[in-house]
Amino acid sequence: MPTVLGADLEVPVKGGRLVGYANLDYAASAPCLEPVSAAVTAALPAYSSVHRGAGYASQLTTARYEQARHTVRAFVGARPDDAVIFTRNTTDATNLLASCLPAGTTTVVFDTEHHASLLPWKNSVRLAPPAFPGEAVRAADEALAGIDGPKLLVVTAASNVTGELWPIAALAHIAHRHGARILVDAAQLVPHRPLNLTALDLDYVAFSGHKLYAPFGAGVLVGRRDWLADGEPYLKGGGAVRSVGDDIEWHDDPEPRHEAGTPNVLGAIALAAACDALTATGWTALVREEERLIARLRSGLASIEGVRELSLWGDDHPRVGIVSFTVDGYSAREVAEVLSGEYGIGVRDGKFCAHPFVRHLLGEHDGGCEDGTASAVRASIGIGTTEEHVDRLVDALRELVTR
Ligand SMILES: Cc1ncc(COP(=O)(O)O)c(C=O)c1O
Repeated sequence: MPTVLGADLEVPVKGGRLVGYANLDYAASAPCLEPVSAAVTAALPAYSSVHRGAGYASQLTTARYEQARHTVRAFVGARPDDAVIFTRNTTDATNLLASCLPAGTTTVVFDTEHHASLLPWKNSVRLAPPAFPGEAVRAADEALAGIDGPKLLVVTAASNVTGELWPIAALAHIAHRHGARILVDAAQLVPHRPLNLTALDLDYVAFSGHKLYAPFGAGVLVGRRDWLADGEPYLKGGGAVRSVGDDIEWHDDPEPRHEAGTPNVLGAIALAAACDALTATGWTALVREEERLIARLRSGLASIEGVRELSLWGDDHPRVGIVSFTVDGYSAREVAEVLSGEYGIGVRDGKFCAHPFVRHLLGEHDGGCEDGTASAVRASIGIGTTEEHVDRLVDALRELVTR
């Protein structure tokens, strides 16, 4: 396993003691992998602007930037002619695609989505959270059948609330049967599972570097070139144009067309280094370790009376290393504050930028918030998470509910 920076971070807790930080908030932003930090450090001495410089440093940095594109393409198993556009993050990537949809496109999206995938669309049909995976496919089928003109199905591969995996291959199949395209939000999938866009027959995928152990401000949109080549340049400025006179000649290659200005070169290099590090470690080992720890965490939570895990499709549905829960008698904020202030554990509380979904999951049960605002606590794991972190969280919650 590669190491993460900050594995030995100590944080103050009540009484002034220092304890090792138990970072259980990977789904928000994962810590930096050591090989990612090393790649950025190695690139810095020759750091220079890309594409337009004749100097050696500029050529070297350009080569590194373009190599990062190839690495990301290979990491997600993209087709040779797919565009790979560096963005700021997943939100930026979904908004970029939204700005390039052909006129009159209708988007079909489930209410379970993160806001980054729920909100950017001008004209969308929203589907209720499906009761089981086959229902997701059936609902998408029915919705897409009723739409004329260009259509796009948007779906998250792994939920940022429950960690549950969505049937993206079946949804891609249904989308294509109706002449629609599919965008997969892979922000929470790629840190935990391999993804092969070609094998799954996906049209677009989006994800963020900072959730993939590369917190240097880059994300990516990968997918079919045509809509991206025809769409309005996302940013208008240098790099996106071939020439400017009385008329403006925009690039029709999606990468320069949508990457105007000086790009986030170090972010792209970091993102690619993370892809390389995960590939070198091997998915079998990564998935095995994550499944061991998440099973330990979930069974620990299940053993505490008053702690309820949130789930759309039931306990046995496959999921990545993310678990959200409520604690009877405490608001999510109170729980998160106690975990941090007394035990040195970092978790997330709230609605995780998935308001409709969290409301749906909580239903009548409002998570104990006094103001009735539904919210939950989320623990999420990854490379660098230890058994001790998991056990500390379970023990802390057990203590909390018996106070
Ligand atoms: C599933 C999912 N999609 C999109 C996003 C948005 O990512 P970013 O904040 O990097 O744009 C997140 C972030 O939490 C997410 O979990």
